[in-house]
Amino acid sequence: MFSKKFAWTMMVLVIAFSLILAACAPAATPVPEQPAATEAPAATEPPAAEACNKVEVFSWWTGGGEAAGLDAMIKVFQAQNPNIEFINSAVAGGAGTNARAVLATRLSQNQPPDSWQGHAGQELIGTYVKDQKIEPLNFLYDQEKWLDVMPATLIPLISQDGNIYSVPVNIHRANVLWYNPAILEANGIAVPNSLDEWFTAMDALQAAGVAPLAMGEQWTAMHLMETVLLASLGAEKYNGLWNGATDWGSPEVKAALDSYAKALTYVNADAASLTWQDAAQLVVNGQAAFTVMGDWAEGYFKELKKAPKTDFGWAPVPGTAGNFQFLSDSFVLAVGAPDRDCAIAWLKVAGSKEGQDAFNPVKGSIPARSDGDKTLYDEYLQSAMADWASNTVVGSLTHGVVANDSWKSEIDTALGLFLADKNVENFQAALVAACKASGPCK
Ligand code: GAL
Repeated sequence: MFSKKFAWTMMVLVIAFSLILAACAPAATPVPEQPAATEAPAATEPPAAEACNKVEVFSWWTGGGEAAGLDAMIKVFQAQNPNIEFINSAVAGGAGTNARAVLATRLSQNQPPDSWQGHAGQELIGTYVKDQKIEPLNFLYDQEKWLDVMPATLIPLISQDGNIYSVPVNIHRANVLWYNPAILEANGIAVPNSLDEWFTAMDALQAAGVAPLAMGEQWTAMHLMETVLLASLGAEKYNGLWNGATDWGSPEVKAALDSYAKALTYVNADAASLTWQDAAQLVVNGQAAFTVMGDWAEGYFKELKKAPKTDFGWAPVPGTAGNFQFLSDSFVLAVGAPDRDCAIAWLKVAGSKEGQDAFNPVKGSIPARSDGDKTLYDEYLQSAMADWASNTVVGSLTHGVVANDSWKSEIDTALGLFLADKNVENFQAALVAACKASGPCK
């Protein structure tokens, strides 16, 4: 038999314990009548913090300058989300040539990463939106008030039927000519302003035994091509290539392709086996005078501890001053993302001022948001900010803005043949056919 005193003590303890439990529980909410005891309890949404504990993010930022930028943004993410493991599934290869193939396979097997890097423009709309692989993000734009800070020019490029499909982290410039100031000076060459001045300068360099133009693998040849098309045609006719207003078979496009063929005569013979970083290094190491590359090259030069204006200089690709040929990296939310809430946490960081101001100064890009802290950006990037605000903005082919994937891949096939045979007439005919098959040409 228990003593009376023991029974009282037990009762007091039980009451006290229940009071403590009640105090810790969340405020009571009215509970609907419980189902009959035999039915399984209805599944309830676990609280957001327990819904996921990892996020897989897919990109192609593994190399010089690029991984460092991504790491800076991951740091911000981890500080804000200490309980979410960040799985970095980046696949090496500039411009995403390898990564996008891996991604396509995963998407076709319904094994998407939670979030991946996609270019604003036709790459996003013509592939991932068209194939219903990504979720609209209007709810995030509302919550985070992103429409107040994201550029109005960008929103249509990531939207369809009123739905916004990605979170832009940056603006990159494609039409940049990087040069070695010491080489130009030693050869008495001024920074060229037109294609003709550029070719004359490269003739002089070649005659002096200096490698004029560093280039890498095939996508860098397409990158060079789009900048020469812009230089030769001007912004309006360049835009017309992508909306059907400029005839790919016209004499003016022929002249642009002739200029491109001429530019290629100055390129290093081993281009096909070099990455964009290899080609960029030739310039800062004093082994070539020029390279044409997007401004991620600037992120790379900084990582190499090269000094602006001394180790490298920059200018718009000759003939393109006043034009900003742009692209924008953005992140998406997979339909069926295995870790949806954590992916949303990632997207919030990617779209935030803090995330963008950590990422872009390292990556060599300017923030997509209009409220970035200018003091964090170096001289080159401040000049890019000024140009983005004042120049005529046109889109990049190589980096997903102006042509859908199938059109771009037909252009790429034609380009591969052209790089081998250098036959401009055949190249132009193939480009006419590509526009008919997959572009807006009739
Ligand atoms: C672009 C991408 C840039 C940069 C570059 C080189 O397509 O938008 O962020 O990574 O490729 O890899």
